Amino acid sequence: MPKPLKLPAPPLPAALQEPPPRPGDAKKPGPIESAKEAGITVVDWVDERTSLSGAARWMMFRKVPKGTNWFYTLGSATMFAFLNQAVTGVFLAMYYRPDPSGGAYESIRYVTNDVFLGQFVRGMHKWGSSVMVILVFLHMGRTFFFGAYKYPRELNWVIGVVLLILTMTMSFTGYLLPFDQRAYWATIVGVNINGTGPLIGPYLSDFLRGGSEFGATTLSRFYAIHMLLVPGLLAALIGAHLYLVAKLGTTAPPWQKSEARSELRESEV
Ligand code: HEM
Repeated sequence: MPKPLKLPAPPLPAALQEPPPRPGDAKKPGPIESAKEAGITVVDWVDERTSLSGAARWMMFRKVPKGTNWFYTLGSATMFAFLNQAVTGVFLAMYYRPDPSGGAYESIRYVTNDVFLGQFVRGMHKWGSSVMVILVFLHMGRTFFFGAYKYPRELNWVIGVVLLILTMTMSFTGYLLPFDQRAYWATIVGVNINGTGPLIGPYLSDFLRGGSEFGATTLSRFYAIHMLLVPGLLAALIGAHLYLVAKLGTTAPPWQKSEARSELRESEV
């Protein structure tokens, strides 16, 4: 078969011609290298002005003890459930109206039946709330059974207890928002149960109702607590919780400790 004819390159003026590579010259970066370099340049630019990369490294590159397992992911899973609630909640808030004279119920009906992907986003928020409650209890169980509440992590346990109460408050206040029959009567029962608590019980139920009667103020109060007060507190306390996790490090599983102790005992013999 005859060889294909190779035409000479068209003549270029000397100024446009690429100079031949010098010995020791690095290879020209391709598009992927250039894109990587661009990312690094942006991070460098921000870091030079904020020195935040040290904090990011401190938070993310930590030593983790031997023997950690899947149970240690429950805290992060709870955090992702919270993020899911925050994101889907923002979309629901675009349509929700805290109007007790039918507007609240109607806005939820509209989201469920008419808005594109509305039922899906509402479902993610509704089921996500149960998922978060289950995860927070499992995570609490993990920290309890692994002894992670002991010195020096007592404060993180206390913050955790507040996070648990806030998570339950989110579920309780969110339940009223559709303002259908089930939400209405279930919340009356819930507020009355709160009222039976010692000392602060009656004050708490009056505060939740926004007076002695269950009415229009109750819905706007639950709405403000559910959308503003508690999410803000939750986000801030999760930040404090994670700061302490990074500062104090993760607890080793109890059996790991006992292995270390037995090694110590063996070395003492
Ligand atoms: C919104 C709720 C919560 C979130 C998002 C959250 C998140 C986390 C994360 C990401 C960790 C590190 C990873 C891990 O050990 O799983 C952690 C650790 C910890 N959490 Fe939570 N947590 C929550 C609620 C709670 C509750 C209810 C308690 C207990 C009452 C608690 C007590 C602790 C303790 C003591 C640690 C340290 C564990 C260790 O050092 O091994 N947390 N949490």
